[in-house]
Amino acid sequence: MSAKKTNKVLEYLQSLHTAEIGAMGIYMDQHVRCSNVGLSKLAAMLKDDAAEEMHHAEEVAERILFLGGSLQYGKHDIPKTGPLDLPEMLKLDVEVEKYAIMQLNGGIRICADEADNGTRLLLEHILKEEEAHLKDYETMLNHVGKYGDTYIVQHLL
Ligand SMILES: [Fe+2]
Ligand SMILES: [Fe+2]
Repeated sequence: MSAKKTNKVLEYLQSLHTAEIGAMGIYMDQHVRCSNVGLSKLAAMLKDDAAEEMHHAEEVAERILFLGGSLQYGKHDIPKTGPLDLPEMLKLDVEVEKYAIMQLNGGIRICADEADNGTRLLLEHILKEEEAHLKDYETMLNHVGKYGDTYIVQHLL
């Protein structure tokens, strides 16, 4: 792998690392806010997802160091929050995951171009977890819209 190729992958991994930490912050914020209003099951799920995003950030950070890069901690886009609005919160989560999937597919293309299959395998593994997150949030958003309070009481409290 030439130095130039490595730089492209490293540059990409740095932006992914920032996004993973941002996603972790969003889910931790939502976890404590849902917990505060008694949405215990949803709060627990958000905490698990925050932990998965932290694990992604960790794996990406390890890869950056493995490739000889250094870690940079930038500004993370955690939106300002007002009163808890469940459908709006879930819509944001769907967007967070769609963005992650787009970003990872882009990264997989970069890795293919740069012949960095080690990084590509890591991204493919993270991608599958983000796809599962997206499905979960889309399903919840759908069910909240369709079944309203009945669904919330039975599945999210
Ligand atoms: Fe992630
Ligand atoms: Fe995710």
